[in-house]
Amino acid sequence: MDLSLTETQQMILDTARAFAEKELVPAAHDIDKNGQFPKDKVKKLADLGFLGMAVPEQWGGAGLDNLSYAIAMEEISRGCASTGVIMSVNNSLVCDPIGKFGNDAQKKKFLVPLAQGKRLGCFALSEPGSGSDAAGMRCTAILDGDEYVLNGTKNWITNGKEADLCVLIAHSNPAERHKGISAFIVDRNATPYGIGKVEDKLGIKGSSTTSLVFDNVRIPAENRLGKEGDGFKVAMSTLDGGRIGIAAQALGIARAAFEEALIYSRERQAFGKYIGDFGAIQEMLADMAADIDAARLLIWRSAVGKDEGGKFGKLSAMAKLYASEMSARVTHKALQIHGGYGYVKEYNAERHVRDARITEIYEGTSEIQRLVVARETLMEYAG
Ligand code: CAA
Repeated sequence: MDLSLTETQQMILDTARAFAEKELVPAAHDIDKNGQFPKDKVKKLADLGFLGMAVPEQWGGAGLDNLSYAIAMEEISRGCASTGVIMSVNNSLVCDPIGKFGNDAQKKKFLVPLAQGKRLGCFALSEPGSGSDAAGMRCTAILDGDEYVLNGTKNWITNGKEADLCVLIAHSNPAERHKGISAFIVDRNATPYGIGKVEDKLGIKGSSTTSLVFDNVRIPAENRLGKEGDGFKVAMSTLDGGRIGIAAQALGIARAAFEEALIYSRERQAFGKYIGDFGAIQEMLADMAADIDAARLLIWRSAVGKDEGGKFGKLSAMAKLYASEMSARVTHKALQIHGGYGYVKEYNAERHVRDARITEIYEGTSEIQRLVVARETLMEYAG
């Protein structure tokens, strides 16, 4: 098996790493502290072509493969986890479904500016009363002539405050469960919807998380994404891809924590030697190194699986499950290695712990990833 990168993939890695080192690493502490959306960094990501990485050039994107996207997501998130999730949502949860399920008119109107980073998107699936049970949603989109009338509230929407449009998943036939769900593109400028308060979160504080409120918002019927009743499948297949991005975000956070712990273990002395010379610290560093590499291999395999065009939902669920839980383990160990300094904001260790935690929850909790993996595995064994 050849794990070497192509020239283009290596170039993406180098570019993303240099950008993260110069622009994100020095800013990440303040982005977290001030809870401020990193507008200037997002604009620079757009200039690099990182907001529509796997979108074909014809539709305004960089025309890259998903492995390049995963590599870039790791590097950007290593620099700043908030910037990482902003990038991930626009790529995986907005550009990807419009590219896959949109018609040419929708791609021209919505995908091109999104992929170019001229507009920013968000993805609206969860609701106050439904997260893991996505089909249990209550938000409705009822056809009335040549318009859909939207009612309901969506919750936990990353990029909610800044996004110019959202990919909305709602019931067009509430009598049915998942078969009555459809997907839509809702352009906030053309058909404004309400934005709830920005949540005060544990981590990824630079990205906004809000609710979206639809109170008789009328959108043109031509904004439906895919066929009526196909919305649940649009959402599920979108999340299959999104989970690669979040897995790579978790990996980037873990790497940041690990690298800082390594440096610290070569600087801090105790009992007359560097703490990195003690077996107890070396054991932690060894486990962290192996954990990080194992997660990267799963992520790369799922990204290649997506590029190959077959079913990759189990691979991406495994990658997200492993990478997010790995990130929690690694960031905790990194904090432990820093001792008391790990617990205060002078160092980044506590931020990495806080940033890693959400990756076990959003885009499907670890429990949902296990459910997806178990179902697929049981099906494979049933033949
Ligand atoms: N691709 C395409 N279709 C799929 C699919 C997939 N990956 N998974 C399921 N489907 C289809 C099934 O084939 C089935 O279709 P048919 O009826 O035609 O056979 C249909 O969808 C229903 O499938 P299930 O019976 O499996 O549905 P379920 O109600 O049991 O739910 C679930 C399955 C996996 C639990 C799903 O609800 C799920 O993934 N939940 C988690 C939701 C989630 O990840 N939310 C994250 C929110 S987004 C977010 O966090 C964004 C952010 O801002 C960062």
